[in-house]
Amino acid sequence: MNLTPALGQALRAARRVVAVTGAGMSAESGVPTFRDAQTGLWEQYVAEDLATPEAWERDRAFVWAWYLWRFGRVRHVAPNDGHRALAEWARHPAGPEISVVTQNVDDLHERAGSDPVVHLHGSLAGYRCEACDEPYTEPIELPEQEVARIDPPRCAACGASVRPGVVWFGEMLPMDEWVRGVELIEAADLVLVVGTSGIVHPAAGLPALARAAGAVVVEVNPGTTEVSDVAHHVIRSTAALALPALVAAATP
Ligand code: OAD
Repeated sequence: MNLTPALGQALRAARRVVAVTGAGMSAESGVPTFRDAQTGLWEQYVAEDLATPEAWERDRAFVWAWYLWRFGRVRHVAPNDGHRALAEWARHPAGPEISVVTQNVDDLHERAGSDPVVHLHGSLAGYRCEACDEPYTEPIELPEQEVARIDPPRCAACGASVRPGVVWFGEMLPMDEWVRGVELIEAADLVLVVGTSGIVHPAAGLPALARAAGAVVVEVNPGTTEVSDVAHHVIRSTAALALPALVAAATP
């Protein structure tokens, strides 16, 4: 992969790196994105039927089954070379501090060894009570096949339904995670924007925030996005191909 001298220099000089990641980061692990033609989840499913508080109110069992099915799929896949490259870079003796700020609800960054991982849109692995917010930690059986409806369990504390621990359209981001993400971006000298269409706010504002705060911004994405114009460097390749090359250039 041909990286410009300026990008090589920025990679080697970086001391605080943040990877802002979206669904494309996990695509090569076999987790579908949301908006890619043919394969994106929102090409096959209607977001309003599944990822909104109204959908949950309408049919909890339908929404619950869909999230369990997605989590089941994630259990069966592994981090790809892109996830692994970020974690390996952080372990390099002369490497920078590397944080991940992700919109993804999978746990592939953690399983690759990255730390910290800030989840702006929650996590498939975390469930909580819809009414009292009590975390639900009982084991949950994940379906092997897509199942139309599964009744969610009840909260032991108040009896209300347990819900997926993800952010739906129209909901606020978890405030602690958002504040942490912004702090990390503002302190970064290099920000890698990987596999996000840059459509969903407020996460989509992070690349511009990074640039305004003085970081070098690098986009890794095979396609042009809403945030491409913000990047100082653009790499039109996939996460699993580009990130190992970037890390190799950073740690000669
Ligand atoms: P999208 O599906 O909107 O965008 C995926 C991006 O990944 C696109 O820009 C693709 O070009 C790119 N891409 C595809 N394959 C790639 C690969 N192998 N390597 C690198 N990039 C690749 O996903 P997000 O931007 O993450 O929110 O979507 C943002 C939010 O919208 C999600 O967190 C979710 C969704 O609705 C909620 O559910 C609240």
